[in-house]
Amino acid sequence: MIILGFESSCDETGVAAVCTERGLLSHALHTQVAMHADFGGVVPELASRDHIRRVLPLAREVLAEAGLTLDDVGAVAYTAGPGLAGALLVGASFAQSLAWARGLPAIPIHHLEGHLLSPLLAQPAPAFPFIALLVSGGHTQLMRVDGVGRYELLGETLDDAAGEAFDKTAKLLGLGYPGGPALAALANHGDASRHSLPRPMLHSGNLDFSFSGLKTAVLTRLKTAREQGGDTPALAADLAAATQDAIVDVLVAKAAQALKRTGLKRIVVAGGVGANLKLRERLALALRPLKAEAFFPPLSLCTDNGAMIAFAAAQRVNAGLFDPKAPQATEHAFS
Ligand code: KG4
Ligand code: ZN
Repeated sequence: MIILGFESSCDETGVAAVCTERGLLSHALHTQVAMHADFGGVVPELASRDHIRRVLPLAREVLAEAGLTLDDVGAVAYTAGPGLAGALLVGASFAQSLAWARGLPAIPIHHLEGHLLSPLLAQPAPAFPFIALLVSGGHTQLMRVDGVGRYELLGETLDDAAGEAFDKTAKLLGLGYPGGPALAALANHGDASRHSLPRPMLHSGNLDFSFSGLKTAVLTRLKTAREQGGDTPALAADLAAATQDAIVDVLVAKAAQALKRTGLKRIVVAGGVGANLKLRERLALALRPLKAEAFFPPLSLCTDNGAMIAFAAAQRVNAGLFDPKAPQATEHAFS
């Protein structure tokens, strides 16, 4: 069965066609980054309006690229949440209308489940069970994943998400939006050892995180430097490197603890921060002594996209968690 999937939870309009037997057939993405850049962050109203503009052309593009017509589509999937309400409504309304018009089932997908299963889109794909480190702009979670739909939350952030910590610190350093990639790029030119920033909750004894203190620590250093006339481009680069190091250190340490506690040997990293190369590098080093292996989605599918939504829907159908013939019975099984 071919599933046409839609993602519109934030500032990316993503559409994809996935076959339950053959996997990803095609996907298309429109990112609104340039549109929001002038405002230093996502403007929800603009995001919703842009999703409306993009969703139909992208759907056409995806079908054409895969050599499909609407007659080939057996189900429609969409991001049900979490995300910006107006933005979500565009994708959900479009997908549900399409499903209604064509007499197809509509499959609501939890955005984080999309991220969580996206490493299965890469080759080699990890076998279940595994640990998932979900690191996006809105979430930081460690989960134990025993199968599709069998998720156990092991720990999560008590305040800011890892991506949020990257974004907020980037803003303090005067970098553009989105801050994560900008901060990571600047960090390449800095020396992390010049600033020792806190590693929040590193020794908390659990698998929770806290990142909100990090931006305050950076702000304090910036203020001091400004007072002393030392606010230079080199300082920004050093602070960027130190911030990235602090975030990555905590993520890697907790990920390793999750593996030790569960005895599992596989970890997948998903969500936008999963694109961070320093995180990938450090995690690989930390996993060596544990004889564990890390899996990542293809780099282009780390941030929000339609492929992960259509793919998660296909996984749910294949696992028998969504019966296309009786969709009403399983409509809210994801929540
Ligand atoms: O998963 P995602 O696209 O959207 C959410 O569901 O939130 O993640 C976006 C987050 C942003 O905070 C962005 O700054 C961060 O991922 N991000 C990065 C990198 N690329 C994206 N953070 C650090 N390094 C990167 N290379
Ligand atoms: Zn996301």
